[in-house]
Amino acid sequence: MKILLAGGAGFIGSAVVRLAVTRGYQAGNVGALTYAACLANVACLTDSRLYAFEQADIRDRAALELIIAAHQPDIVMQLAAESHVNRSIDGPADFIETNIMGTFNMPEAARKCWGARGTSEGLRFHHISTDEVLGSLPADPALKFTEATPYDPRSRYSASKASSDRLVRAWFETYGLPVVLSNCSNNCGPYHFPEKLIPVVILNGLAGKPLPIYGDGSNIRDWFYVEDHADALLLVAQKGQIARSDNIGGENERSNLELVQTICSILDRLQPRNSGRYAELITFVTDRPGHDAHYAIDPSRIRSELGWTPSVTVEEGMEHTVRWYIENEDWWRPLLSRQGVGMRLGQSTSA
Ligand SMILES: NC(=O)c1ccc[n+]([C@@H]2O[C@H](COP(=O)([O-])OP(=O)(O)OC[C@H]3O[C@@H](n4cnc5c(N)ncnc54)[C@H](O)[C@@H]3O)[C@@H](O)[C@H]2O)c1
Repeated sequence: MKILLAGGAGFIGSAVVRLAVTRGYQAGNVGALTYAACLANVACLTDSRLYAFEQADIRDRAALELIIAAHQPDIVMQLAAESHVNRSIDGPADFIETNIMGTFNMPEAARKCWGARGTSEGLRFHHISTDEVLGSLPADPALKFTEATPYDPRSRYSASKASSDRLVRAWFETYGLPVVLSNCSNNCGPYHFPEKLIPVVILNGLAGKPLPIYGDGSNIRDWFYVEDHADALLLVAQKGQIARSDNIGGENERSNLELVQTICSILDRLQPRNSGRYAELITFVTDRPGHDAHYAIDPSRIRSELGWTPSVTVEEGMEHTVRWYIENEDWWRPLLSRQGVGMRLGQSTSA
């Protein structure tokens, strides 16, 4: 099977590419090498005859058409995106251009390539989305996002993702392009870019710096392990029902404060401080504007219909993640000097 994936030098995309090649699939990886890209995430594949990297911006349709025509993929997966909500507060233009305009080019380029085949048998276009397009739930833990939950995006990141989801669906309605989608909750795991909450907490903790938590830490997210997400994505790409979106999640809701406390207790065990405990570094900071209160995914349909189950508990995934950052300073240290990393982003209310 031949896969062409956009965004495979990022956190989740690289997990998908690594898993795909491990399974013997041919995997082409398209990326613009933005500030969030790390080719080190896929360095283990450089010598594989199954893997190829193509540097291109998904906003460049002509380049995409040439790449898709050259690769002749059976499956196209769209993960290339601006993905950091805080950056969408300070500078939304890249989110609109990449997540909407860039995504617009992807099904169009796939349609051109596949149109020449005369059949859609065995072909799939998989667009990867987020639970954030579904809005913010009240605090009640019984409430979950299902596949029937109406869209209600509230940040410029989630609004751009919601737009792209709708655009991709339009290629099915208009041209019958064999489209599948998935909406997933927050991922943890290796190769997570060090501007996101979990790596920030681990790396600040290791450096003895404050562990920043927005507001009172009560915002709830639903966490699961990135390699299990990669497995679920390959399943949806091959077996998901056309023109539908599957929810993917770990059924592990934690407030941000609970999450940070969990990371602190893992650090206390794996890398004890000279004196004191990591939780003493927790510092509450001013909340970001429009911070959604609660996300929670109900993944029961992908479990019952496609037989997907996560391979690790989220506790195991968190522990593996913390251990990975402790052991892989060579990966994260150079990234700390990239633009904006380590700065307090997303405070602006005027952009
Ligand atoms: N991280 C999460 O917890 C999470 C949760 C739900 C959904 N998602 C979605 O999954 C996808 C991947 O997320 P991630 O966390 O791996 O993001 P990431 O920021 O780590 O990676 C995104 C990749 O896309 C590339 N990219 C950005 N703009 C591009 C452009 N114009 N052309 C080509 N490449 C470009 C980046 O260079 C990077 O390699 C995104 O669509 C995101 O919305 C992520």
